[in-house]
Amino acid sequence: MKNKTNNDNSAEALRLEKISWDNFEAIMNLHVNKEQRDFVAGNKDSFVHAFVRMTDEKKPVFPFGIYKGKKPVGFIMITYDVGEDDGTEPSAEWFLRGSYYIWRFMIDKRYQGNGFGREAMVLALDFIRTFPAGEAKYCWLSYEPQNEAARKLYLSLGFVEHPEHYAEGEEMPAILTL
Ligand SMILES: CC(C)(COP(=O)(O)OP(=O)(O)OC[C@H]1O[C@@H](n2cnc3c(N)ncnc32)[C@H](O)[C@@H]1OP(=O)(O)O)[C@@H](O)C(=O)NCCC(=O)NCCS
Repeated sequence: MKNKTNNDNSAEALRLEKISWDNFEAIMNLHVNKEQRDFVAGNKDSFVHAFVRMTDEKKPVFPFGIYKGKKPVGFIMITYDVGEDDGTEPSAEWFLRGSYYIWRFMIDKRYQGNGFGREAMVLALDFIRTFPAGEAKYCWLSYEPQNEAARKLYLSLGFVEHPEHYAEGEEMPAILTL
């Protein structure tokens, strides 16, 4: 059942705001429902993961707060060029390298079911299509197979599931041609 109680009918457009000293605490304090906690890392953990990826792996990370007007409603984090080059082509990971990856995505439990997730994904894909870390043919993401809400949203935006790269206990990968 969708939550319509926090529907915000204001004309203010949804927007992505870079994580900064001004907004990181507000975004850190956004949370999903208890039963959704296995679907995405907490935002605080995601900030730490972004730091390690940038400093240790030297890869670009693009973390954004999702805002409806002045109200923080969610978080999305994109990175580029995930995966090891194991020398085999195509390998199970061929699509990871040289592609954009939507690494983290959540809408706070108070604001789900209002269309914000769909709008935020469209904005994120617009951003990716500016190729901020370099040219790419694909954008991919992955989700727990039981995460029906996320699955439906991604497939409706053109992502295609790749069950041949799915292994028991892992997340289902889905790829969008940019
Ligand atoms: C997945 C998530 C980001 C969707 O955000 P949202 O703002 O609630 O989604 P929207 O209201 O924009 O709905 C977009 C689409 O998602 C799907 N969807 C959303 N809620 C759903 C639900 N409860 N059941 C089934 N499908 C649902 C529908 O396809 C919907 O499209 P429609 O409105 O045309 O039917 C949000 O549910 C969330 O944060 N979940 C927990 C964290 C998570 O799973 N992140 C993704 C990790 S891969």
